[in-house]
Amino acid sequence: MITTIITDDIASYAAQLIGEQLRAKPKSVLGLATGSTPISVYDRLIEMVQCDTLSFKNVVTFNLDEYHPIQAEDPQSYMSFMREHLFDHIDIDKMNIHIPNGMVPAEDVADFAIQYEKAIGDAGGIDLQVLGIGSNGHIAFNEPPSEFDSRTRYVSLTDQTIADNARFFERREDVPIHAITMGIGTILAARRILMLATGPTKAMAIKNAIEGSVSTACPASALQLHRAVTVVIDANAAALLMPVTAVLEADETNLGIQDEHHIWW
Ligand code: PGA
Repeated sequence: MITTIITDDIASYAAQLIGEQLRAKPKSVLGLATGSTPISVYDRLIEMVQCDTLSFKNVVTFNLDEYHPIQAEDPQSYMSFMREHLFDHIDIDKMNIHIPNGMVPAEDVADFAIQYEKAIGDAGGIDLQVLGIGSNGHIAFNEPPSEFDSRTRYVSLTDQTIADNARFFERREDVPIHAITMGIGTILAARRILMLATGPTKAMAIKNAIEGSVSTACPASALQLHRAVTVVIDANAAALLMPVTAVLEADETNLGIQDEHHIWW
């Protein structure tokens, strides 16, 4: 089931939801995402840790993906992104951080992927997976048409994703064209999923993901098969969804958020 929350403040909503998860289970296993969208959520989490209202001391994390090939120290790596935007500012044990290794030799990627899946299983499985969505409907680097039972693997990025990510690089030619990504099957195995999106460039992907047919043409539509997905989006990303069918007062969500928001089933 997908619950869709439309709010101007995705950061507060999402950070509160993640905070509740960590307080309920201090040894939670979190799946984490990179990209512009989660940055404000990570800022909130950092504030919560710095105010001592949240701790990552016993939390284990697995990131969705990493470019390949790329050195962990490269400023464009997702490892660098996570350090800059979250890990260097919170009390997480560095041993508990997992991000696909962007320097695994091509011939060893398949073995590495099996080990990554095993590490997730050994940690007890992902309790809460944070996700963005690509303008082409991808989740992690599962580009259309990725199979719904796909697992961690080596992938090629589509032209659309390369164009979307070029804004982070000096030149489009600098954007890596391959990556190691968790699969859709890996993501669907998480106990709970939190997908975030903002802005008009995500409106069509959000519509296809939530209201479209379940199809590998829109990898995010696989989320319709999961029993506990919360999609937190702003009004621009929600612009193409069907008219509101219900409006709940914020306190009905038990998240204590003050702003009114809309919710679809
Ligand atoms: P973005 O990326 O948050 O930078 O828009 C999302 C994604 O491609 O998954």
